[in-house]
Amino acid sequence: MDRIRVRGGNRLTGTIEISGAKNAALPLMVASLLTDEALELTHVPRLADIASLTGILRQHGTDVVPNGENADTGNDGRHLTLQTKEITSTVAPYDLVRKMRASFLVTGPLLARMGEANVSLPGGCAIGSRPVDLHLKGLEALGAEIRLEGGYVHAAAPRGLKGARVSFPFVSVGATENLLMAASLADGTSVLENAAREPEITDLGECLQKMGAKVGGLGTSTITVEGVPRLGGARHQVVADRIETGTFVMAVAITGGEVELIGGRADLIGAVLSVLKASGVEYEETARGLRVARNGARPLPVDVETEPYPGFPTDLQAQLMALLATADGTSHIKESIFENRFMHVPELSRMGANIHVDGQVATVRGVGRLKGAPVMATDLRASVSLILAGLAAEGETTVSRVYHLDRGFERIEEKLGGAGAEIERLKE
Ligand code: EPZ
Repeated sequence: MDRIRVRGGNRLTGTIEISGAKNAALPLMVASLLTDEALELTHVPRLADIASLTGILRQHGTDVVPNGENADTGNDGRHLTLQTKEITSTVAPYDLVRKMRASFLVTGPLLARMGEANVSLPGGCAIGSRPVDLHLKGLEALGAEIRLEGGYVHAAAPRGLKGARVSFPFVSVGATENLLMAASLADGTSVLENAAREPEITDLGECLQKMGAKVGGLGTSTITVEGVPRLGGARHQVVADRIETGTFVMAVAITGGEVELIGGRADLIGAVLSVLKASGVEYEETARGLRVARNGARPLPVDVETEPYPGFPTDLQAQLMALLATADGTSHIKESIFENRFMHVPELSRMGANIHVDGQVATVRGVGRLKGAPVMATDLRASVSLILAGLAAEGETTVSRVYHLDRGFERIEEKLGGAGAEIERLKE
């Protein structure tokens, strides 16, 4: 298993290119199940999760063709053309779904197009139990009959789905996406209340609109979908990855220096930038993206709670913690989205961080300098927080189990290395 070695202490300077968002690209790829025509996606990040989903879609009958690799501008990313002329299987097997929860998103589209879906329950994962009850209740409201058997969800709507009002008890990104896709081919109008407002959902909704769906209220907590009998092909560019952008902003914050994030969008990380500004980071929007800078002073402490968009994202909580571990004072971080998303704490502690967790709240007492150590990645965002900590630490840090990192960060060692970090992948 590969490891990443970081030698801390270098300031970051220059430019870093931002990729398309993993969490937008995955549902967009799934949307190709809704039509027999071709869906062409551009700016798709090159990640392990994209490859896993490609495998799942292929076994449902989707033809996935990568083309225009690293096309012209360099910032246009990879193109994928997906076409599902015929759905050859409505079964999403355990072996594939357990690797990646996002594959559960095939349920709504399979049901909408084929009148049935047989999808393995994803099970828990390192960051918590993560049930799919909201997805299932929503699909039931659209008229699906749902049976759980042998670890599988068997959903059936032999006479098609019917538009309905679905009121989510709390915000779920995945359930909103599943229902948005299912409702787009349902008979009649659906209203999704307390829907997630994440930019990745807006991106999915805009792509569905190009495919012929009638979707309103994107970016608000009430989304309306007037079902249509069929959807067609489209070409769509995946939105910039706001989590990758926020991660690199924090990388600059933790090392000091000045970097322009090409293609980074400040408007998608407003809550993050205001927290970082309070912590001493300077930023400005540029014609090409976002420039961030921090002088050599220690970051200032801040108190933060993770929330659904537009609040501070849970997917940047671990990275913020690495930064605040070096702050000049005590910070508090409350994790409100996931029950078990502090696994990076013991690893950061191995690097000299002073963090105490009590339930959902971590108290982070900043230390002058972290110290390099061998550490282990536990999930995607936790692993990148260890890399950030390593960039600021004295000496050498090796992060093992980097397959977590490869799920969601494209060429991170190249991107950080290009901006002056001393970082390399150790192949094994
Ligand atoms: C999406 O996961 C993201 N994944 C996650 O990113 C992200 O952390 C999360 O949204 C929150 O922003 C993708 O977009 C592929 P949720 P999702 O449904 O859709 C509970 C990363 O690192 N819940 O909004 O699975 C759930 O357990 C990943 O890139 C139910 O109880 O998140 C959680 O506590 C990790 N029942 C909360 O809701 C349900 O039916 C929010 O989950 C659904 C969710």
